Amino acid sequence: MKAANNTTTTITLDGITFSIKQSDDPEILEQIKALDDKYIGIHYALTMEQLIAIAHKDGLLVALHQNKLAGYSLILFEPIDKQHSFASDEALLYGTTVKKEFRHIGLGSALAGLQEIKAKNKGIKKLRLTVRPENAAAVLMRLKNNFQINGFDSNYFGDESPRFVMEKNIVESLEKPAKPVNHRASLVLTPDHKPSQTTLTMLAMAFSVGMKVYAYYPESDQAIRLLLG
Ligand SMILES: CC(C)(COP(=O)(O)OP(=O)(O)OC[C@H]1O[C@@H](n2cnc3c(N)ncnc32)[C@H](O)[C@@H]1OP(=O)(O)O)[C@@H](O)C(=O)NCCC(=O)NCCS
Repeated sequence: MKAANNTTTTITLDGITFSIKQSDDPEILEQIKALDDKYIGIHYALTMEQLIAIAHKDGLLVALHQNKLAGYSLILFEPIDKQHSFASDEALLYGTTVKKEFRHIGLGSALAGLQEIKAKNKGIKKLRLTVRPENAAAVLMRLKNNFQINGFDSNYFGDESPRFVMEKNIVESLEKPAKPVNHRASLVLTPDHKPSQTTLTMLAMAFSVGMKVYAYYPESDQAIRLLLG
């Protein structure tokens, strides 16, 4: 798969064909805004001005099925808000959403994967994103795509809502994350279940004292287990 300006990548997942490309078509942007408002904007709103700015800065990929929006992915190569700060060789994944009828077939991973290729081509070394701990589906998708949970912030966007900070080094590296030998606590996150306040407090404490967090996902129950050590 290869993504570049004006390039359309065609992929078939589970027998359904999608065209993935960059777009600044106002009609498509309206559909993206509506989808974003529904799933992500309720937690951290994206304005149409920001969306247009991202599209014009190479940061938007859309997936179309029969010329209709099936999903999209946003990446920032430079901050669009004073709350973002990242180095020039880093990029911030700013949300990937797939319409319900096209989930679980790999489209979210494909969109994010194409953003990663684009970032690599621009010389980016590290991808970062933030995600709410209750969004275990998104955390699972990122873990499967080799992101690590490297931080936890109880008030990342100043909205009193905690976020995991997940990162992926996209330059080749032989370094593997260390598994804590004697972990002190173990927590489980499950898709569609809001983590308890105790879980969130334990996570905040673990990260604040510099504990290592090792995450993995047993295939059997699709849950994420976090070992704090
Ligand atoms: C998160 C989201 C983008 C995933 O899209 P998707 O196209 O279904 O993702 P994929 O098919 O690539 O899934 C990859 C892996 O993620 C995990 N996953 C995704 N959704 C899951 C769910 N609801 N429950 C359990 N695991 C899930 C699975 O491990 C899956 O791998 P598998 O299919 O081999 O089991 C989609 O659920 C979504 O649009 N959510 C609403 C918007 C949102 O919260 N976006 C994330 C903000 S950053």
